[in-house]
Amino acid sequence: MSATVVIGAQWGDEGKGKLVDVLAANSDMVVRFQGGSNAGHTLVVNGKKTVLHLIPSGILHTDKICVIAAGVVVDIFGLTEEIRKLKETKFDITPNRLLISDSATALLPYHKVLDQARERALSEGKIGTTGKGIGPAYEDRASRRALIMSDLFDTEANLMAKLEFVLKEKNVLLTKMYDLPEIKAKDIYDQIQTVIGDLKPYRAPDVSLLISQKLKLGKRILFEGAQGTLLDVHHGTYPFVTSSSTVAGSGSISAGIGPHHLSKIIGVFKAYCTRVGSRPFPSELLNEVGAKIQKDGNEFGSTTGRARRCGWLDLVALKYAIRLNGINSLAMMKLDVLSGHDQIGICVGYKLGEETITDFPPSTEIVSKLVPIIEYLPGWKDDLTDIKSVKELPLNAINFMNFVSQNAGCPIDVVSVGPDRDQTLWIKHLFKD
Ligand code: GDP
Ligand code: IMO
Ligand code: MG
Repeated sequence: MSATVVIGAQWGDEGKGKLVDVLAANSDMVVRFQGGSNAGHTLVVNGKKTVLHLIPSGILHTDKICVIAAGVVVDIFGLTEEIRKLKETKFDITPNRLLISDSATALLPYHKVLDQARERALSEGKIGTTGKGIGPAYEDRASRRALIMSDLFDTEANLMAKLEFVLKEKNVLLTKMYDLPEIKAKDIYDQIQTVIGDLKPYRAPDVSLLISQKLKLGKRILFEGAQGTLLDVHHGTYPFVTSSSTVAGSGSISAGIGPHHLSKIIGVFKAYCTRVGSRPFPSELLNEVGAKIQKDGNEFGSTTGRARRCGWLDLVALKYAIRLNGINSLAMMKLDVLSGHDQIGICVGYKLGEETITDFPPSTEIVSKLVPIIEYLPGWKDDLTDIKSVKELPLNAINFMNFVSQNAGCPIDVVSVGPDRDQTLWIKHLFKD
C-alpha cells in the first residue's frame, strides 16, 4: 500500500484538518511532517469542535496511530497542553496512539521570544508570523544548534551543556539587538523538567523504520500537511512565507521514506481564497464581497484569532500548487460559504502592465504587482449545508466546480459543505474499503 498526502493548495487554513479527520477513518496511521504550532487544524464531529496544533488530525479515531515526524518543530509545552486538553475531553491518548519522533526539533521558549522580538522590530515590513517561534527553531536546526527531542531526555549535565551553548549566542541577540533580558539555561532546563515526564511515554526512536514496516504490511498511511503551498519556504511568496517546506515532497524527507511511496497527493483548497499575515494576495477582495466571505466563512485564525484576508478563488495559484506538489486529486472545501452571491468570481489570469500572465510567477516582487483577471459565473442562493450528495447541489454550484476542475486540469473528488465530518460529499470515494 502506498501513502497519501493531504496538502494545502493555497495560503493555509484550507480545511486540511477536517479532510484528514474524514480520511483517517479509512487509514491506519496519520503522520504530521512539518511546521509546528503555527498550524491550527479544526475538526468538528457532531457539532463538537477540536482545534489541533501539533497532534495529527487522526487522533479522534481511537484505533489510529498518530505520528509526529522528524521535520516538525515541537513546542513541548504546547504539545503537553494539547494532550492534556484532549484527555480532559475523555480522549485517552495512550502511547501506542501518539508517537513523537526522537529526531524532531524541540521548539523552546527562546524561539518564541526571538520570533516575537523580530516581528516587533520589523514593524511595517513584518512577515506577520504566528509568533510561535517557528522561524528561529528551523534556523537552529539548519545551523545544527537545535536540541532535538532525544536531547531532552539526556542527563542533566549534557542537556545543560547544550542549552548553555545555544543560549550563549541567543542572549547576545536578545540583550544587544532587541533590548530584552537574558534567558538562563537553568530556567529553561527547569521548565523542560515540568513536561518531559509527560512526553516520555510517546517517544519514537525510529519513525522511518516504523513507517516502512507499516507500508510493507500494506497499511494505509496518511501524511498531513500544515500551512499551504504558497507559504512554502522555497516556492511560496518569499519572504512572506513560513520556514518549512510545505509541499508534498517534504513528507518523504521528514518521515524518512522514499518519495515513490507518496502516490496520491490530495490538494485541499477553499472555493475562495484566504491569507493571514502580510503581503501579496492578487485576488484579495477589499470590499463588501470580501467582508461577506469573511463573515460567512468565519474566517478568523484558529491559532492567533486574526482576521483572515479573503478573495476570489485564484485558479492560477491553484495550478501552481498542482504543479509543485504533483496533486492528482482535489478537495474543494467551504463551498457552502459562497451561497448568496449573484455571481462568483474566479481569478483566471493576471495583468502585468500590458502583459497577460497565466502561470504563477515565482518572484514575489512580480506577484505584488499583478492585477487579477476575474471571470464571473452565476451564483446560487441555496443553503448547501444539509446537502447529502453531489447530485443535490444547485446547478450553478456544479457548474462552478466543473469550471474549476476542468481549468485546473485535475479532478475534484471531494466537496465539503460545512465544518462537520458529516458535511462531506464524494464525487469519487477516496479509499473506501
Ligand atoms: P486547516 O488549517 O487547513 O486545517 O484549516 P482551519 O481549521 O485552520 O480552517 C478551516 C476552518 O473552516 C475551520 O474552522 C473548519 O471548521 C472550517 N471548515 C472546514 N471545512 C468547511 C466547510 O466545508 N464549510 C464551512 N463552512 N467551514 C468549514
Ligand atoms: P495551517 O496549518 C495560515 C502564516 C503566518 C505568516 C507566515 C509565517 O493552520 O494552515 P510562521 O509563524 O509560520 O513563521 O508565520 O505563515 N501561517 C499560516 N497561515 N495557516 C497556517 O497553518 C499558517 N502557519 C503559518 O500567518 O503569514
Ligand atoms: Mg489552520
